[in-house]
Amino acid sequence: MRSVVTGVGGYLPDQVVTNDDLAKIVDTSDEWIVERTGIRRRHKASDDQPVSDLAVAAARKALEAAGRSPEDVDLIVVATTTGDLTFPATATIVQRKLGAPVGVAFDVQAVCSGFVYALSVADGFVARGRAKCALVIGAETMTRLMDWTDRGTCVLFGDGAGAVVVEPQMGEGTTEDRGLLGFALRADGTKQDLLYVDGGVSTGQVGKLRMQGNQVFRHAVVNISEAITAAAADAGVEVSEVDWFIPHQANLRILEGVARRVGIEDHKVITTVADHANTSAASIPLALNTAVQDGRIKKGDLLLLEAMGGGLTWGACVVRF
Ligand code: ACO
Repeated sequence: MRSVVTGVGGYLPDQVVTNDDLAKIVDTSDEWIVERTGIRRRHKASDDQPVSDLAVAAARKALEAAGRSPEDVDLIVVATTTGDLTFPATATIVQRKLGAPVGVAFDVQAVCSGFVYALSVADGFVARGRAKCALVIGAETMTRLMDWTDRGTCVLFGDGAGAVVVEPQMGEGTTEDRGLLGFALRADGTKQDLLYVDGGVSTGQVGKLRMQGNQVFRHAVVNISEAITAAAADAGVEVSEVDWFIPHQANLRILEGVARRVGIEDHKVITTVADHANTSAASIPLALNTAVQDGRIKKGDLLLLEAMGGGLTWGACVVRF
């Protein structure tokens, strides 16, 4: 049985922080940030807005788009690195806030690659008949992990949430080849020092995000390109057949570099990084939601998703929408 994406939703907090706003607190400029990253602004959650609130708002929209209600949901996977509490999982908090019935709910932690990892996990449940209506959510409050004195990192990230509903393909034979067609997931723990948070429960402090930006950049283009080729092979498609490329929105230069390397034309690349910055696990579903809402992505289109993040982790997924 195939798993199909039946609904997409997104949520961005109201507060918008521009590059000029950041130039008031660190030694940077709109010109530098736009030229090096393509980022112009980002959204920031208010102090009383936990990540589960962002996740719930995105999930409600995805359920509505799928024509489902919270009572239908039997699996919730939240990809996040900025959960409300150390435990329980943000997924169970989302379950309670949505009013979803007893089912399966847990978080996936693969940082910026989290959404692709979570989608693969949900695919396993749905394709094996172990879930009938899965919510896969990428939700982050990355601004809470920033060192606001480090201009090399604090300008790059934003907050937000995106969600999809994944269900079994109904009426096989009539819906042709729609579904989650192929995945390639990767991790290399030896590259931890390139991107990490210098704290955690076992070390007694929350910590701040630390990054060797130029090293991450170097690894990103090469690693992601290999995963894209592997995911396309897993799906049995050629990269040239892809209608829309929905990369993790970290940096315009990285995603253009990847597209060029794997031979995807510019007009097929969905970019939201200018307005959202890097929202980690939320960036792919937020970009997907943007292009579904504005009518570019339509049912039956072939989509290619990819991400890379701390770990290092990375991966790609091919979806017939
Ligand atoms: N404003 C002004 N100057 C800055 C800023 C800033 N915000 N940040 C760094 N600089 C300075 C540095 O201090 C350095 O100055 P120096 O030469 O006097 O020492 C100079 O700019 C060059 O620094 P680099 O780090 O070499 O700059 P680079 O061209 O590599 O750009 C950037 C930095 C934008 C972070 C880039 O490396 C990058 O985008 N890397 C990818 C990181 C990323 O996207 N991570 C997200 C998580 S992983 C992922 O999602 C793929």
